[in-house]
Amino acid sequence: MGDYLEEIIDKVKQMDFKDSIDFSLKFKNIVIFGMGGSGIAGKIFQDLFTKFPVISIDSYEFPQYIDENTLFISISYSGNTEETIRATDMAIKKGAKVWAITSGGELSKMVKNVILIPKGLQPRSSIGYLLNPLLLGSGLADDDSLKEAKENIEKLNREHEEMKIIADEIYYGNKIPAIFGFPPYKYVAYRLKTQFNENSKILAYWSYFPELNHNDTMPLKSTYRKELFYFIALTYPNINEIYLKRLKITSEICDFNYKEVRAMGESLASQIYTSIHQGDLISYYLAKRRGVDPRDVNIIEELKRRLS
Ligand code: F6R
Repeated sequence: MGDYLEEIIDKVKQMDFKDSIDFSLKFKNIVIFGMGGSGIAGKIFQDLFTKFPVISIDSYEFPQYIDENTLFISISYSGNTEETIRATDMAIKKGAKVWAITSGGELSKMVKNVILIPKGLQPRSSIGYLLNPLLLGSGLADDDSLKEAKENIEKLNREHEEMKIIADEIYYGNKIPAIFGFPPYKYVAYRLKTQFNENSKILAYWSYFPELNHNDTMPLKSTYRKELFYFIALTYPNINEIYLKRLKITSEICDFNYKEVRAMGESLASQIYTSIHQGDLISYYLAKRRGVDPRDVNIIEELKRRLS
């Protein structure tokens, strides 16, 4: 097994993955279920697809309205995650139109419509395999936008000094990352929080505009130990000016500096994947600085074993 960086950099290959969920089925609402690194695909998607109501779920609570009018998409890299299996079983019993995205496991046996993805990766580094079927099936991405995403990921693979610098600043400054996201990509910011958790093994904070202006703004001004935090704003080209204005005014009133990490490209696919990729690289280099294994998720696995 090579260094985990190879797995991150290999994301570029996933831009060629073109299998997709069939969105031409008749349905009235979409429910996407997934936990952790698998669930993030549904979370990102739910803020982007606006033709039908979409929710993503990552808990034992199950919406009553799930029935034959529901397109239920179950996402689990391993195909064996307890919460996901339980929810999928319920969705099948309720007569929902069920699809699964998985590399195998129990899920691939219980669901008829399965998008099978390659085995051997960490769920969180298979984001292209998990998200492309949703973006392509729904029409939010196409060959051209995935090509743009691929080219920009390649660019980042060649040159990402800035990501190492950010990791160094967090590490040598003994900082806790606090990430600010902006709709419609607020869950891309959440993804970075989870990458700091799983890759770098550090706690991290996440919030998003404009909502944070109605709560976080207070402690951003006066919390104790403000110097503990490293603020990252995940912006993107053609972001609505109102968000940048809010960010600027908030940082002025509350007196904090932030690092802007900007997504690349015009298309939604390129912006999502380059933003994710930059975060993956930062969290990887931070893990290396800390001397922890970015791939290792033994504790999560032990927890799953003890619960089973
Ligand atoms: C990410 C990771 C976890 C899993 C989560 C669910 O790399 O290891 O966040 O994604 O425990 O497991 P799966 O994805 O197999 O359903």
